[in-house]
Amino acid sequence: MSAAWTAVPLAALLLAAATNKAVSDQVDQGQALYAETCASCHGANLEGQPDWRRRLDTGRMPAPPHDETGHTWHHSDATLFRITKQGIAAVVGNGYKSDMPGFENLLSDEEIRQVLDYIKSTWPPRAREAQVEITRSDRAASQ
Ligand code: HEC
Repeated sequence: MSAAWTAVPLAALLLAAATNKAVSDQVDQGQALYAETCASCHGANLEGQPDWRRRLDTGRMPAPPHDETGHTWHHSDATLFRITKQGIAAVVGNGYKSDMPGFENLLSDEEIRQVLDYIKSTWPPRAREAQVEITRSDRAASQ
């Protein structure tokens, strides 16, 4: 077999390895950012605040879990990005008050994507697939 023949699959393998490495670096970076900026409210294990479905005495909602038991995976990529960047009040509008702040002064767009990629990486396949589908129909609707 000539060298050219062996070189092709090797290059493909190296490319695949580099891509996987890039994806896992992105997730590692996101995990560190999550621990620093989100875990205080959403929980170190993405479990959310206790009794998160019940409104607080302030009238605001507690932080929901980001794992499969919450509803983070019910939102498209675009919505998750806007919520994290601008905060919930800005996204909901109509004077809605929320304890979920926007992180635009603290995190770059790239860092927001990394945190969200980390959160997604913890979901089981059916939640991930459902969220991909929601993202797809959200995109189709906004075109
Ligand atoms: C100071 C507390 C606090 C911090 C820190 C915080 N959040 Fe939140 N987050 C909340 C609260 C409270 C809600 C629910 C707000 C509501 O429903 O009005 C929420 C909701 C959300 C939602 C919507 C979830 C859903 O199911 O609808 C997303 C997405 C989110 N947060 C992402 C993040 C990310 C990413 C970070 C870190 C970069 C973060 N949050 C940091 C308090 C916080």
